Amino acid sequence: MTEASKVYPPSDEFVAGANATAEMYARADANPDEFWAEQARRLDWATPFTQTLDWSGAPFAKWFVGGELNVSVNCVDRHVAAGKGDRVAIHWVGEPIDDTRDITYSQLKDEVSRAANYLSSIGLQAGDRVAIYMPMVPEAIISMLACARLGLTHSVVFAGFSAAALRSRVDDAEAKVVITTDGQFRRGEPAPLKAAVDEALGTGDDAAPSIEKVIVVRRTNHDPDLNWVEGRDVWWEDTVDEQSPVHEAEAFDAEHPLFLLYTSGTTGKPKGIVHSSGGYLTQASYTFHNVFDHKEGRDVFWCGADIGWVTGHSYLVYGPLSNGATEVIYEGTPNSPNEHRHFQIIEKYGVTTYYIAPTLIRTFMKWGREIPDAHDLSSLRLLGSVGEPINPEAWRWYNDVIGGGRCPIVDTWWQTETGGIMISPLPGVTATKPGSAMRPLPGISATIVDDNANPVGDGEQGYLVLDRPWPGMLRGIWGDPERFKETYWSRFEDQGWYFAGDGARYDEDGALWVLGRVDDVMNVSGHRISTSEVESALVAHPAVAEAAVIGAADETTGQGIVAFVILMGGIENTGDALIAEMRQQVAVDISPIAKPREINIVPELPKTRSGKIMRRLLKDVAEGRELGDTSTLVDPSVFEAIRAKRA
Ligand code: WTA
Repeated sequence: MTEASKVYPPSDEFVAGANATAEMYARADANPDEFWAEQARRLDWATPFTQTLDWSGAPFAKWFVGGELNVSVNCVDRHVAAGKGDRVAIHWVGEPIDDTRDITYSQLKDEVSRAANYLSSIGLQAGDRVAIYMPMVPEAIISMLACARLGLTHSVVFAGFSAAALRSRVDDAEAKVVITTDGQFRRGEPAPLKAAVDEALGTGDDAAPSIEKVIVVRRTNHDPDLNWVEGRDVWWEDTVDEQSPVHEAEAFDAEHPLFLLYTSGTTGKPKGIVHSSGGYLTQASYTFHNVFDHKEGRDVFWCGADIGWVTGHSYLVYGPLSNGATEVIYEGTPNSPNEHRHFQIIEKYGVTTYYIAPTLIRTFMKWGREIPDAHDLSSLRLLGSVGEPINPEAWRWYNDVIGGGRCPIVDTWWQTETGGIMISPLPGVTATKPGSAMRPLPGISATIVDDNANPVGDGEQGYLVLDRPWPGMLRGIWGDPERFKETYWSRFEDQGWYFAGDGARYDEDGALWVLGRVDDVMNVSGHRISTSEVESALVAHPAVAEAAVIGAADETTGQGIVAFVILMGGIENTGDALIAEMRQQVAVDISPIAKPREINIVPELPKTRSGKIMRRLLKDVAEGRELGDTSTLVDPSVFEAIRAKRA
């Protein structure tokens, strides 16, 4: 057998002790509703549901109809009630060395109750929206759970997004409150964060109309002159901390919107993905238990994602906590103060289950194996990967160097829209192949089809579709039902399938390989960024007349952003200085994470006769390939000029 086709069967130990079993697949297929009802009953319901799925209003699903529950009670109170209050829920590790805090389930209950009491004291009511713009501090999770407790729909905005990005999300959701911090630590230095909130929310005529309060957690304490808007701004320590730690939670309908999370689509405007309470929590909880083979009271789980992304929602907050897990939450970057940080944390806390993105694995590879080798990583028993396709080389390195050859790897495919993991090996059940997400989970059904909705043959590339509803599925796009139908359900409307936007293929053994996006969405270090969003930011620069952006293959980040821009007439090309301004424009409009790796100022863009920019050809140029078919171009010689500019 060649190295490339080597299969990794589960160890005897996993086969004997895993939570998941092979018979789950057949059982789920025989009666999906019954299977999901059984998973939902892992949660505590104040009112039991009477119907598992109502798909009569497709594609608008209703799961666990008639059921009522409180998500926060399921993540916190019920563990305390079951006598597990002294168990550590969160080992919080701040970026500064020795800035740590362990939070038990009892303490978490008190803190969440205090925050809930304060939020209701200022008049917030179930259904209101709250924006959370925070680094990875415990109060971020406490805030999410306090919202859930009151039926407030939270909208977490990644703290790396710009003021402009925050404002558009606050306005779209008509959030009444923003919860933030004074600053955040980034590579050892305090950086302002509230300043971005002030800029975002504006003043006077410009003020965000929906905002009533800004709650500020003191984190960095770096700025004695912190800007303060009287009447609007309050310190967490003066308000939340003063509250009673007792809060009686009310139950909400299973379909009550738990959160919005904005994500990039193929058009410039980010869309607010809406998730439910009962269905979402069922899927987060079920997948955490089975895919991570979670053993209560024994495992220490660590998901390296930020709460600003869906992975942070489902596997830092709702999945682990609904299962009573003990987890590590780390505030900083992997190389702060040096490249040993992650491995020191694994060693110190005895992390058993480690879930990160391939881009970080590739970064570790670049740093060299002597770094992890200097640490005792023997507590690890399971590894996970998420966010982008993992190349087999990185998979094997992860397996050998981090996992010591003994840990199953779960390569988990899913999306902001799916709410939880959809396609993944099951530890103890699946023999894995490096680079393949293998197979839809029990209860999930996916298929790969061509343009005409016909299944593709083994080895052929097609579109990944989900052909059966699932509990964690998005319930819509905030305020835009038409866009929801158009974006996800119109491609295979006759069949009623969800189109994920990814390409995939089956191999000869029926293992599923996800190949990446087939639309204009880029994946940079596991972050979704749309080409048109970056293009809009670039043309917002006064010197830019037109821009075309593509994701080019990148060894470390998966894809890198490459832009081609045409200058306005009469603008002098000052080279690097101008390019730096354009990159800054993108940072200001979206986030530093969306800054192009490369900007090429070109005299023209390749266009078809109907005026469409041929991104495919720009990708060929950026990746240094021979050009594909140029016959539909108005002027094929455009490329000579583009190539000359890049040389
Ligand atoms: C990609 C992140 C291959 C995919 C959870 C998807 C993956 C997009 C994998 C969603 C994987 C995620 N293998 N590709 N294991 N996981 N993707 O919404 O293109 O940030 O459509 O959700 O990431 O990104 P999102």
